[in-house]
Amino acid sequence: MQEKNLEKIVSWAKRRGFVMPGSEIYGGISGIYDFGPYGVALKNNIKKIWWKTFVEDSDDIVGIESAILMNRKVWQASGHEKGFVDELVECKKCHQRYKADDLPETKCQSGGEHEFTEAKQFNPMFKTHVGVIESDESMTYLRPETAQGMFTNFKQVMETSRKKLPFGIAQIGKSFRNEINTKDFLFRVREFEIAEIEYFVKPGDDEKAFDEWLKSWEEFVLSLGIKKENIKHYEHPKEGLSHYSKRTVDIQYNYPFGYKELTGLANRTDFDLKAHQEASGKDLTYFDEETKEKVLPYVIEPTLGIERLMLAVICDAFEEIQGGRGVDKSDPSTNAQDGIDMSEIVLHLSQSIAPVKIAVLPLVKKLSEKGREIYKDLKTCWGEIEFDESGSIGRRYRRQDEIGTPYCVTIDFEEDRKVTVRNRDTMKQERVDIKELKNHLFEKLGNF
Ligand code: GAP
Repeated sequence: MQEKNLEKIVSWAKRRGFVMPGSEIYGGISGIYDFGPYGVALKNNIKKIWWKTFVEDSDDIVGIESAILMNRKVWQASGHEKGFVDELVECKKCHQRYKADDLPETKCQSGGEHEFTEAKQFNPMFKTHVGVIESDESMTYLRPETAQGMFTNFKQVMETSRKKLPFGIAQIGKSFRNEINTKDFLFRVREFEIAEIEYFVKPGDDEKAFDEWLKSWEEFVLSLGIKKENIKHYEHPKEGLSHYSKRTVDIQYNYPFGYKELTGLANRTDFDLKAHQEASGKDLTYFDEETKEKVLPYVIEPTLGIERLMLAVICDAFEEIQGGRGVDKSDPSTNAQDGIDMSEIVLHLSQSIAPVKIAVLPLVKKLSEKGREIYKDLKTCWGEIEFDESGSIGRRYRRQDEIGTPYCVTIDFEEDRKVTVRNRDTMKQERVDIKELKNHLFEKLGNF
């Protein structure tokens, strides 16, 4: 994948109502994005499938939602206040700041090579105050990860859900990091969502659980339609591990800017429970019925950023076809405004996450009323469905292909009471009797 593709994806995402810069009418705010109607639908579909896979369909994982704001003592005990640091360097000539472990390959804007300062430590947690008085006592942070809410609630959740080891706690939630340098669109942002699981096991069972989770985590990524040849594993060297980890393996995705971390899997040992037990003075042990001993569970943590996953599924699905796919070339193209002359974009999203599943398109105005009736009827089965009667049929197909709609239903019948069902990827068209339409679509789509 080429660098220019990311630019095209950024422009497409804005033009098509998927992702736009935050606060844009005021000039934006660096590293913050808003999600438009199709973007939020895609994001919600990814989160729904994640929740169904790991919480609803699982016997040993329960979900929670913990608060973004936590007592500052949580971040002191977890090691984040002291140990969650990035190394910051500044170029003495152009004054751009960078993470010391992610230096630019490009030359300095002021000419020649960059001249960097010594690395300074920088804690990327956003500070805030709870209550009206801004003092050291009222200070805390916006959480940089959701994990700590699952550790502080571990005992309570285990008891109320009557779980025994091994079991997991899952959550999806907003996290915040004041990144030194935001770049590559949704890849490195300052406000994002993490979906993660803390899977508690008996000490000694951790290494086997780690291997099993690596398999499940990869299967999940692939189940969203990401191609296997575009992912690889990266084993962190011992000296590069986070302060809490005994072993970490990332699943990297082949983004347009190279292979980079999409998800992570860490063996957090008993680091967090031990730290919170010591700092809070509360017993966080598990009573093992077999050995009649109290133990502090070990934790395997599969984690992923929803925005990074969203960017990966978009990059994987995005195809730009120069010269189009044989549609009417005299038709004013929807993307000609961006100078992508007569090229056509098709988003080959997996139908499970596509923001629109079916588009109903009456061929001519006089079929609009009939089209609306069919649209309303289909909407009782599939919520993510659109009705579009404006523009030529070629233009409407292109619009749907660009947002990844798997099926278009064209209302073009006169006497035979049949409609045309068109497949986004193959462009194959089938004539289907109206009475059979729901069954026909159900066979293709299932009931999302
Ligand atoms: N609880 C463990 C934890 O937070 P992490 O690797 O620091 O681990 C989890 O973050 C995931 O969040 C990463 O695998 C990545 O997908 C995503 N992520 C981290 N920083 C991000 C950022 N600045 N922007 C977007 N996603 C980010």
